[in-house]
Amino acid sequence: MTAIPSTRPKITYATAQIDNEQLDLEYEAGLAAIRATLGEHLQNVVGGREVDSAQSSAKQSPIDGAQLGTFALATELDVHAAVGAARSAFPAWSRRPWQERVAILRRAADLLGERQMQLAGLLSLEVGKNRLEAIGDVEETIDLIRWSCRMVEQSDGFDRPMGNLGDATVHTRSVLRPFGVWAVISPFNFPFALAGGPAGAALVAGNTVVFKPSSDAPLSAAHLTRVMRDAGVPDGVFNLVMGPGETVGAALVDDPDVGGVVFTGSFEVGFGLYKRFARTYPKPMIAEMGGKSPSIVARTADLDEAAEGILRSAFAFGAQKCAANSRIFVERSVHDDFVRRLVEKTEKITIGDPTRRENWLGPLISARSVGRYETAVAEARRDGRVYIGGERLSDAGLESGYFVEPTIVGGLSHEHRLLRDELFVPFTAVVPVDSVDQALDFANDHILGLTAGIYSEDKSEIDEFLARIEAGVVYVNRRAGSTTGAWAGAQPFGGWKGSTATGRGSGGYYYVQQFMREQSRTIVD
Ligand code: SIN
Repeated sequence: MTAIPSTRPKITYATAQIDNEQLDLEYEAGLAAIRATLGEHLQNVVGGREVDSAQSSAKQSPIDGAQLGTFALATELDVHAAVGAARSAFPAWSRRPWQERVAILRRAADLLGERQMQLAGLLSLEVGKNRLEAIGDVEETIDLIRWSCRMVEQSDGFDRPMGNLGDATVHTRSVLRPFGVWAVISPFNFPFALAGGPAGAALVAGNTVVFKPSSDAPLSAAHLTRVMRDAGVPDGVFNLVMGPGETVGAALVDDPDVGGVVFTGSFEVGFGLYKRFARTYPKPMIAEMGGKSPSIVARTADLDEAAEGILRSAFAFGAQKCAANSRIFVERSVHDDFVRRLVEKTEKITIGDPTRRENWLGPLISARSVGRYETAVAEARRDGRVYIGGERLSDAGLESGYFVEPTIVGGLSHEHRLLRDELFVPFTAVVPVDSVDQALDFANDHILGLTAGIYSEDKSEIDEFLARIEAGVVYVNRRAGSTTGAWAGAQPFGGWKGSTATGRGSGGYYYVQQFMREQSRTIVD
């Protein structure tokens, strides 16, 4: 792929629209370029070699069912071979000066930048992201990798002198050292950011990686693997094994030579892996395990700001984000006014082929997601009311994809299943409350604690929210998104409670160190 030179504006998840014709043209050129490459048979990558398998699977676009390619399903033997390759590559990679690893990972970030528009086009086709979300996913990956490089550099490779208790013959250093082989298990919703970000951190810290992507995003995974190779990551340092979590993911986590796991996905799967991984002795697992993110609208709120921020977090990318805003607690006196504004804004959402500039909302990832949506809507109709939405779309041009209407419901208690389960579909519920205090009780009454937001003009209410809310990422009066839109170096992204295994956010000051363990080295003259 050739680089397309440009002076692009920075696109993040907080960017509302592309007001830049050049960017649109570049995205369209990238999309055309990637379309020309479709239809490949993708293989696993073990020790730098492409490895095929007797079994394969096809990947279809959620937009129209078109086949994008096929991919080899790794066997258990492939997984263990990949771990073996990563283990063999570890001594040389970990002993390289950290400056060399930083340079290689920065090259990977640069290559992602050069290929950004093709990769964004691929994301639209493969998982249904609109052009802004797709460009943002690649941009975030670049920034996550660069952030980890910066953290290592700023800390001088995490090699620091300690005291000597007054004895000048004693020299002690605290050194952070890598663990060995890390499994990177990533979801479909941010195929680059939630794979390249964690993998970049693991690698720059000196570990080697076996990467297991979601089976819904194998093409992105193959492209990320090529970026690593082209950046100069040596053979065996970054390996790819594709296939279902139940077989490939499980084999990876069960392999005794895997020293750490970084996982993003559901609570059920993540917590299961967490317990499974610690079978012989405690080993590090960094996990981001979903959310049921609440926002609170106080009677003092700017309701227009609140409605816009909540709409963006409730429906962007069909709410297929762990941080999606699925619970909204609104003070009773402004409830109806707020719902009216949110419904009015929702009516204006354009739904359709996400590769087209005019469409903000694309399809869901799969028929299973549509089924989950339809069940939720039926339950909301039975137990409460649907303010807007609730239908699958099958108009001309949409009939072969997984398109549904963004849906706002009411009349459900905060304890209703629809306000407990992570649905991962564009479905959000509004609940009236007596006070911000009660809203905080309801918001915190959940096992997950990823992100949360509040809209209020009352400083004491905001202080109370910040003191009491149980979430790892919180936003106050944010029009760009009530609960979503975290960015490396700007908002570290990680949860509390059941949303996390470690409580330290990616893109923050305490992330990359988790891929290392401390060695205290005392040398006496
Ligand atoms: C997510 O993983 O849910 C997206 C992160 C964000 O938008 O803050």
